[in-house]
Amino acid sequence: MSFIVAIDGPAGAGKGTITKLVGKKLNLVNIDTGITYRCLTLAVIEKGYSVDEKEKIVKLLDEIKIQIKRNNGEEKVFLNNVDVTKEIRMQKVNEFVSQVSVIPEVRYKMAEFQRKMAVGKNVIMEGRDIGTNVFPNANIKIYLDATPEERAKRRMLQNEEKGIKTSYDEILENIIFRDNTDKTRKVSPLKMAEDAIYIDSTNMSIEQVVEKIIKIIEDVKLANSSKKFDKPGDSWWKKTQRRVIWFLFRNFYKIVYRIEVNGEENIPKEGAFIICGNHVDFVKVPVIVLFCPRKVNFIAKAELFKNPILNWLGNLFDVISVKRGKQDVDSMKRSLKVLANNEGLGLFPEGTRHGLEKGVKVKNGAAFMALRTGKKIVPVGVKVGRNKIVINYGKPLDYSEYKSKNPEKEVLEKVTTEMMNNIVELTKI
Ligand code: DC
Repeated sequence: MSFIVAIDGPAGAGKGTITKLVGKKLNLVNIDTGITYRCLTLAVIEKGYSVDEKEKIVKLLDEIKIQIKRNNGEEKVFLNNVDVTKEIRMQKVNEFVSQVSVIPEVRYKMAEFQRKMAVGKNVIMEGRDIGTNVFPNANIKIYLDATPEERAKRRMLQNEEKGIKTSYDEILENIIFRDNTDKTRKVSPLKMAEDAIYIDSTNMSIEQVVEKIIKIIEDVKLANSSKKFDKPGDSWWKKTQRRVIWFLFRNFYKIVYRIEVNGEENIPKEGAFIICGNHVDFVKVPVIVLFCPRKVNFIAKAELFKNPILNWLGNLFDVISVKRGKQDVDSMKRSLKVLANNEGLGLFPEGTRHGLEKGVKVKNGAAFMALRTGKKIVPVGVKVGRNKIVINYGKPLDYSEYKSKNPEKEVLEKVTTEMMNNIVELTKI
């Protein structure tokens, strides 16, 4: 499951520049779908086909290879292994690209290709039909617009910077022509998705548009993350308290520490998982709950619940209390239920703060849960500096082949050791 931001709008609305900047700031892979249509158009021109030779163009699409490669933040476009980054912006391509993009079969195949480019990634994708056709379920849809005159002005400045000579009238004419072709084509025309947010950038600077879009994305992410704790039976009051606390604590940690999260892709997008981390200290441990992309129900020692504030917080965030040193059947049942509900279960196998350093015997509860249920363990190393906390998620450990109702002691020990070694390594990154 990827996180998709769709940016649609007419030619020259600033989508390219803005998408790149937002993507860089929010660590989203930016995909400019116009590139794919431009590459095909270039191939059509090179072959000498006319835009009316539709069958030949559709056939050509199967013969070409389009690649977008990134190196040190620089993007290069390859058509059949040849660097065409500059060529696809030529005036000749501008003239024909809209007509090539009108062909229904071309649009169908391009959309497929664009969806493939986004698989498993968090992306900001710009084009004409991303929110309406390529990703109708995108997490966020934005329609970026500006008057044709303003767009022509911007294109002209861009061209001047690149040393390309064109007249304002010529550019305006091309923009109006492309708007018209893009908006009136039969298949997936350029139009605003019903649930898109409209931004008219005519009188806005690039920085203002970037800031506005970042705010929209962050608000949606925030709302999604705080919602992830909700359960069907939760009362309105419990949900509200949880959201307020979650919001305050998250911001508190963000203000006091610089939070760096690595390897988030190792957290399964869906289904149950077990998170096991090193036990730093009582103040730093909640960062996993607060910054994990999925809900994690942690197991904590019952003594903590004697403190009324911790008891309240624990209940608010569904922390599972466990009586240490005893067979706590109730805690085990609750943990198994969490996994059966396809949620995350969190444990600190050291059992106590900096347990490994103190030489305590590492608990094998996590290994037991993994072997009993066949669910994967995601090791996590939390590293705390003076004003920085780094959370490193490691590759999921799969012990499903040893799944058993009564795991053997040796297997439990083996899994526990392997898991702890992974956690220790992750604290060194
Ligand atoms: O964004 P751009 O100017 O590079 O796009 C070039 C052309 O490609 C544009 O005129 C219409 C077409 N296009 C499209 O039809 N659908 C998209 N998703 C992206 C671009």
